Amino acid sequence: MIDLYHLSAEVKKVVLDDKQITKLLNLYFMPELLSLIKSRQSSRIPFDENKPISQEDIHKILEAGSWAPTAHNMQNFEVIVVNDKELLEQFREMELPVSETFIRENYLQLSFSEEELKKKKTGVLGTMFPKAWLDHMIMPAKETGNVPLNIIEPRNQIYPCPTLFILLYNPQKRAPASEGDFLGIMSLGCVLENMWLMATSLGLSMHVISSLSDDAAEHEIKDKLNIPEHLKIAISFRIGYTAAEAKYTRVRRDLSDFVHYNNYNEKEL
Ligand SMILES: Cc1cc2nc3c(=O)[nH]c(=O)nc-3n(C[C@H](O)[C@H](O)[C@H](O)COP(=O)(O)O)c2cc1C
Repeated sequence: MIDLYHLSAEVKKVVLDDKQITKLLNLYFMPELLSLIKSRQSSRIPFDENKPISQEDIHKILEAGSWAPTAHNMQNFEVIVVNDKELLEQFREMELPVSETFIRENYLQLSFSEEELKKKKTGVLGTMFPKAWLDHMIMPAKETGNVPLNIIEPRNQIYPCPTLFILLYNPQKRAPASEGDFLGIMSLGCVLENMWLMATSLGLSMHVISSLSDDAAEHEIKDKLNIPEHLKIAISFRIGYTAAEAKYTRVRRDLSDFVHYNNYNEKEL
């Protein structure tokens, strides 16, 4: 029989360095981390406006963002947390025209049935978009094979939420020698993902709204929030509680679809 008393004394004698501790923690948390990563999803549904996110949770989400890796550790971002009801209401009323380019390029990512989506393993289901878009744009397109433009004046819509995060960056301060600040922009993606995972782990829902970075919307938001001229909106996202999680088919490619070992032509180890 194992003598637990002596065993624990022996264990206490083992001195682990930081690397070993991290390894042990990774071993312990890895399965949970993967399931957290898989459970993170886009919630394109209204959130409860009357159920605020606690300051403690907002703090944790921000802290997760602050520990994201960024190129050269530039930490090239600022965050505005909007939780003022009146401001949020103003944002909801904002005109968010959808550009012709968006409609055309978005169309290429759409599937029109679950079967098609599961087969393609990339993109999103057309039915996830506002009904008006389907009735007036996507459906006729499907029949004629053309992508119809200018049928109605499409508008994007911001669903209700108790909190909106706006991630800002300074395009004039690029990562060293990074053409188009490619590395800086990748870094912003890491910040977004860290925050998204933390929000998920706190039982919160999240929805990215990239149209708030479009010129017209950005201009209006910058004006309302006194954002300095030299900063740009990288991405905005709603965070909040939902009565039930958004349910929709989510697809991913299999690893064998995109992993190559040592040589692009080599799919297997
Ligand atoms: C940079 C970026 C921009 C996105 N913009 C939007 C958006 O404007 N509207 C939206 O509904 N989802 C947006 N998404 C969410 C993606 O569509 C979503 O992550 C993808 O379809 C996979 O679905 P999942 O998040 O449920 O796994 C964005 C995601 C990223 C990373």
